[in-house]
This record gives sequence, structure tokens and C-alpha cells, in this order.
Amino acid sequence: DIPSFTLNTGAKIPSVGMGCWQGQQGAGRDNELVSALLTAIKVGYRHLDTAQFYANEEEVGQAVRESGVPRSEFFVTTKMAPAAVKDPVKEIESSLSKLNIDYIDLWLMHWPQGLTSTDMSSAQAFGLESQKDLGPTFNETWAKMEDIFLNTHRGKVKAIGISNFSPKNLEILLRTAKVVPAVNQIEAHPYLPDQELVDLCKEKGIHVTAYSPLGQYNSPIHTDKDLEQIAKAHDTTTANVALSWAVQRGTSVAPKSTNEKRMKQNITLLKLSDAEMEKIDAISKDPKRSTRLNVSAYNKQTKRAIGWTLEELG
Ligand code: A2P
Repeated sequence: DIPSFTLNTGAKIPSVGMGCWQGQQGAGRDNELVSALLTAIKVGYRHLDTAQFYANEEEVGQAVRESGVPRSEFFVTTKMAPAAVKDPVKEIESSLSKLNIDYIDLWLMHWPQGLTSTDMSSAQAFGLESQKDLGPTFNETWAKMEDIFLNTHRGKVKAIGISNFSPKNLEILLRTAKVVPAVNQIEAHPYLPDQELVDLCKEKGIHVTAYSPLGQYNSPIHTDKDLEQIAKAHDTTTANVALSWAVQRGTSVAPKSTNEKRMKQNITLLKLSDAEMEKIDAISKDPKRSTRLNVSAYNKQTKRAIGWTLEELG
């Protein structure tokens, strides 16, 4: 069994899950994805992490149903598309129907911005173009998610959470939240530890799941000299070291892999020494090895977060 973390709802989330984002083109949709997921389930994965935006909830649900593993052993996460913030009820009903697995373990607000469908279909999805349609604030969207969780879809949504929320976003959200998010899912890896955000979430009782825990495509993590040295000492790979570090610092991870060997490697984690943990913690202090934007920077990049000014978002 894969070790797990306990959420503020009391439910357990496996420390390693399978990220189902198949890339921009939605490559691997349909049977290819179903068969990759069946392999993942066979080798021991129980957390499947999808989203409306990934356009593959049907395939994820199909894999769960076809696996022969009881539904209760799975932890399935999906996310509300940014374009759906005006009608979260319609969105959750759509996810429940596409997944068709009775209930959803964790439902996340995908981004703190509530972009409209027009925004999403334009090249400036995260740009400045239209100031006309501001849509709801993320606090208002959260209140609707709370109502779905507590009232209208009670039992169909076992936990609610957020994704890509910066410390400032979180602070604003918690001013009005009645339900503390169970999870904040953020991009995190040794080149982007976002330790302050991880610490803040911990203080608030919010579990952090790291997406792209290997740093996405062509990641420099695979050839990092410090990770390589630690990997060598344990006769494993840098990827394995990076994931072990993430879980050991208290975050769950959702690396994507369609390769059985790598799937296995990613759920068989190591115990790192304190010195090794510190060495990995120090990597991103080297500006050359701190390559990606953290969520605060992403959120500033969007130039507007609906309903909030940049000043308010900090
Ligand atoms: P593959 O599916 O061929 O294993 P992300 O960081 O967005 O989750 O992306 C993970 C990327 O890293 C995928 O391209 C995946 O390719 C690759 N990958 C997953 N696990 C490993 C691993 N253990 N070693 C090397 N590459 C990996």
C-alpha cells in the first residue's frame, strides 16, 4: 500500500497519485489513457488526479470501473474549470456524470481566477483583453462550492479544495470561507519548493499536493548534480529522489507517467537523511536552479484576478 496523508475531513489521500494531464493536445485521450490508467492501478496507484480542463474525466471513470478494484479504495480528484465559475452546480453535475463513479473524493477550484469561456478560448486566456466581464470573486465561487459540499451534493463530493492559490489568495479566501479547503494543489518540485506557501497551508490545516513534481517537460531536475549525487548513493534516479523529498516534507505528489517502469519507480519512495533533505531544500536558493514561476508570480502574470485588483492580491 502507498502511504497516505490525512486531510482535515478525516479522509486519507495517497502520498503518490497519478496526474492525468495529457498535455495541450489532449494526447492519449480515449483507450490509450484508459489502458495507461489500468496499468497504474495494477501497479498500486489509487489516487487519480483529473480535471474538467483535461477533458478526460470519462476515461478516468472508465478505468476506475474497469479495474475491478472497489470504488472505496480509490481517491479521485477533479477540478472545476476556470470558465465554469458562474455555474458551479452545472459543473459538478457534469463532472459526476462524466466520471460516473458515484462520488468525487476531492473537488478543486482549478485557479483562483474565474475566467470566462470567452477568455479561455482566446489566446489571451490569462491576459488583459476583456475587462467587461469580471465574473464572481473566488470567495463567491468558494461559497457556492461550500453549498454543494455541505448541502446540495452532500456525500457526492467528499472534500473541497483549491489549486494554484498563492499565500495572498489564501488569506483573502479564508476571510470569508466557512469550510477550510482540504487541499491546495500547486506546482512544486526541488526547483520550486514554495516552502512559505507549504508552511502556511500546513498552519491552516490545508494539505498540499504537488503537481508537476518532476518539473514538467525537459526538466533540469533529471540532471541536477545534487539530486544525481543523492540518487547515486541510493542506487536510484533523480526523479525518485525528488518525489521522496516532496513526500518527506509533507506534500503528496501527482507525477504523470505512462510508462510502467517509471510508474513503479514513482511509488517506491526512499527515506532521505536530514542532510540529504537539507541539500535538496537548498537547491532553489541557487538562482540558476530556480527556473519556474511560483503561484504568486503566475497570479500576478494574469494581470487581473476576477473581482480582485492586483493590489489586493499583493
Ligand atoms: P513518461 O510518461 O514517459 O514517464 P509532470 O511533471 O507534468 O507530471 O510530467 C512528468 C513527465 O516526466 C512526463 O513526461 C513523464 O514521462 C516523465 N516521468 C515520469 N516519471 C518519471 C521518472 N521516474 N523518471 C523520468 N521521467 C519521468
